Amino acid sequence: MTLEPTRDDKFSFGLWTVGWEAADPFGSATRPPLDTVEAVNKLSDLGAYGLTFHDNDLFPFDATPAQRQHEIDRLKGALDATGLIVPMVTTNLFTHPVFKDGGFTSNDRGVRRFALRKVIENIDLAAELGAETFVMWGGREGSEYDAAKDIRGALARYREAVNLLGDYVTDKGYNIRFAIEPKPNEPRGDILLPTVGHALAFIETLDRPELVGVNPETGHEQMAGLNFTHGIAQALDQGKLFHIDLNGQRGIKFDQDLVFGHGDLQNAFSLVDLLENGGPNGGQTYTGPRHFDYKPSRTEDINGVWDSAAANMRTYLLLKERAAAFRADPEVQAALLASRVQEINEPTLDPGESYEALRADKSSYEDFDTEAYFGGKGFGFVKLQQLFIEHLLGAR
Ligand code: GCO
Ligand code: MN
Ligand code: MN
Repeated sequence: MTLEPTRDDKFSFGLWTVGWEAADPFGSATRPPLDTVEAVNKLSDLGAYGLTFHDNDLFPFDATPAQRQHEIDRLKGALDATGLIVPMVTTNLFTHPVFKDGGFTSNDRGVRRFALRKVIENIDLAAELGAETFVMWGGREGSEYDAAKDIRGALARYREAVNLLGDYVTDKGYNIRFAIEPKPNEPRGDILLPTVGHALAFIETLDRPELVGVNPETGHEQMAGLNFTHGIAQALDQGKLFHIDLNGQRGIKFDQDLVFGHGDLQNAFSLVDLLENGGPNGGQTYTGPRHFDYKPSRTEDINGVWDSAAANMRTYLLLKERAAAFRADPEVQAALLASRVQEINEPTLDPGESYEALRADKSSYEDFDTEAYFGGKGFGFVKLQQLFIEHLLGAR
């Protein structure tokens, strides 16, 4: 296995990631703007296959139609020259003051209508560029004060918006699906659809649930104290992993957007193992873009920006290599067997067995030896986990 990224690895980056000028709430920018064409060229050289963007990463909010077209043409030229593609597009409904109380769910109806128009314009651009996924991250859809937002009303307006956009792509015949990106907080005190679970439940209430999935981000689930790998597994289970934002986060705090693997490395390892080896026959569970949504740290100059972009891909490939070694190790296979990991895939009832038959089976209850579980029948999970760690550390 090679650690050199290739197009087949499907690594993609947001223009806002490598292009981040590193202004934060406490300090001004530490880097100059990065030109779109330079970003495309450099990402292509590093082995990425895709670039994603918000409308206003490419052209300013107040761009004239001519300025907008000029930037689109420059991007298209760079894509043609390098062969990079745009797998996903998203809309900025959070930077401009007009969105201070959200876009789809602002209390101000005029703002909601403006937000819908902005997204529709951007969906046309996504279709023109061949993007198949349209991400919706509602960072400003939320509140700081419980009395200030009717949450049920806001969810109804969110639903109304996504339903309308579903009608739009269907009527236009666009090959586009939507992916909702959950986040618990930041910039709003509390954001609507805060976790993968909330988003999955919401999607089932839509007119066209088949058009809508999730775009979970590592750090966002971890900001809520949740296990990212578990969230991804549930999204896969429901056929809803339409896209993924990979990055690093260290614990429950502000959204760090570190390089993938620079946060909870063990969880990153189990995630890569799930994505690459978690299929029914040990194959891939997810074949879409491996999208990095990280921020090159504010301490870095442009060299650090490109080092960090490369680090995301290299870490992913290292973990993929480590996961393959973990799966291939006979000791791991024996430990998995001892821990009865595969037994979870065996249905609990026999084929066609009814609850009457279960109640008639004395071995399942009356004769079942529950005492054996005291002081015996350990699962051996710790031994298995140590093997997992040793593979992660390259010790085996
Ligand atoms: C964040 C989000 C964003 C989104 C992006 C896509 O917390 O800042 O992750 O980076 O991914 O806006 O819509
Ligand atoms: Mn984030
Ligand atoms: Mn993201």
